[in-house]
Amino acid sequence: MSLESFMKKQGYKFLYLRRITSGDYSPRDSEWNYSDIPHLNYIHTKVDGYTYFANDDRIVNLFMQRLGPFSVPISNYIEHLENHKHSYVMNILGMVVAVTTSHNKAANGKAETLTEYKFYYRSFIEKIFALIIKNATKKNYKVLMSEDKPMRNQRGFLRNIGITFISDKKDKIGFSETEDLTTKNVDGRSYFKSKKKIKIDLRNKTKNFNIKEWHLTFISFDNKISILGDICQHEGAKLNYDFSSKSKTCLAACPWHGKRVAPLLILNKYHSEDHNFNYLHQEFTAGVHNEVLYIQAI
Ligand code: FES
Ligand SMILES: [Fe+2]
Repeated sequence: MSLESFMKKQGYKFLYLRRITSGDYSPRDSEWNYSDIPHLNYIHTKVDGYTYFANDDRIVNLFMQRLGPFSVPISNYIEHLENHKHSYVMNILGMVVAVTTSHNKAANGKAETLTEYKFYYRSFIEKIFALIIKNATKKNYKVLMSEDKPMRNQRGFLRNIGITFISDKKDKIGFSETEDLTTKNVDGRSYFKSKKKIKIDLRNKTKNFNIKEWHLTFISFDNKISILGDICQHEGAKLNYDFSSKSKTCLAACPWHGKRVAPLLILNKYHSEDHNFNYLHQEFTAGVHNEVLYIQAI
């Protein structure tokens, strides 16, 4: 028996709400965003989440949702059995809300995420309550999307320049797999294939600098130079390095999931040895010869 039939049998009716968000990214980015557990406590400002149980098909969690000066507990049961859909049932202060979110490709090639809510009620009083929650949901949806959409847009930007995601090859992106922050899901091999060797004369570079096309930042200290990636290898966040930081070995925390980002390689400016490093699944060789730094994809 479906939840809808069960609720009908119990004498419930529902108020309906539909919301659509679209953007220049893949439906897989929307799917990933809805499966991704760890961003909740970094990206979302109005909700904190606690996971009771998660596998790749199902999650049961508790949200503490801020509504104005109040904080409301919401219990969630969410299923993700196929890549294009998340279905969930929420219990908000005793009210049952059934939600379906589908991740689709629109005719214009953009991703389109459709979310449909059913706010169940039986009595007149419950209907008033359902109306209040429906209106609060409309406002909350705007806040959630203003926080989630930049993540999807960043992934869309990476896709547009030819950077892909290993998880695209999987049938679907499950919940529990998103908790492993050691996963390197971003694949830059096709992107870097077309890149030639770069040479940088360090005598002309007295300050820290970055090379946008290579998505790399360089930080000088003592006789050394640190090479750092501008794209988080986990899921593709844009990393901004704090040049004023005292720490030379770890200068960024990923804004999406809080992971500390270490340099890809630290070279001595006066030792002409070549070293390899791996970034976005691409192998590189780098070295400093006569104060000229070179990097090449191999
Ligand atoms: S994208 Fe997950 S830690 Fe950076
Ligand atoms: Fe989110």
